[in-house]
Amino acid sequence: MTAQLNPRGDVAVLVPAAGAGVRLGPGAPKALRLLGGEPLLVHAVRRIAAAASVHTIVVAAPAAEVAAVQRLLAPVAPVVVVAGGAERQASVAAALAAVPPGPDIVLVHDAARALTPPELVESVAAAVRAGHHAVIPVLPVVDTIKEVGTGEVVLGTVDRSALRAVQTPQGFRRDVLAAAHAAAGDPLTDDAGLVEKQGVPVFCVPGSEYALKVTRSFDLALAEYLLAAGH
Ligand code: CTP
Ligand code: MG
Repeated sequence: MTAQLNPRGDVAVLVPAAGAGVRLGPGAPKALRLLGGEPLLVHAVRRIAAAASVHTIVVAAPAAEVAAVQRLLAPVAPVVVVAGGAERQASVAAALAAVPPGPDIVLVHDAARALTPPELVESVAAAVRAGHHAVIPVLPVVDTIKEVGTGEVVLGTVDRSALRAVQTPQGFRRDVLAAAHAAAGDPLTDDAGLVEKQGVPVFCVPGSEYALKVTRSFDLALAEYLLAAGH
């Protein structure tokens, strides 16, 4: 059954889904690879649509797959589908340009984080609503991290207590994200990085283990396990 979005919601969610998935190995674009028999993108959109504040979802699909993605998502939720770009940043910019007037909060969420719980979408949006201009979900770093130089020689050990692993959805006041993209230079892999360059403070909220990004085949196997376990 098609989910209903909230016409009085204040959140637009942009879903960059135009990547190839090179690290996952040969096959379809990553967002269309199957997890429990359904594309990663379907899982991601279903969970976004289940978040109560979501008014609009815009998906940036591989240019050759726009019509196929429209058909794929029609039974899942009402979504706008645009063609993505060569870099993630261009895909996000294309999706941002397609957000209709209304929502004051914009979240950017990787299709590859297919099992992200709706509660994380809501907690990031709530922190923006509470007054933070930019919000990212983070987890503590569990491994010791070392900086390594030429010849695989260790240069030093980084203080782990000051490090965080960053996930999506990342949330922004709409005007803040639009200004950051308008001023963007070299492509970055996350939107908070663009906003940081504008001097805007970025606030961290607790992330979720279930928001893992499917990047390599190990992650896909883990996601299969989590889905079968009911997540
Ligand atoms: N993405 C996008 N447009 C691009 C590149 C990436 O919309 N030109 C999206 C991906 O579809 C993914 C998210 O950005 O949902 C995070 O990117 P990543 O995990 O790096 O996915 P891919 O770029 O597809 O994977 P890889 O880097 O292994 O090719
Ligand atoms: Mg990539």
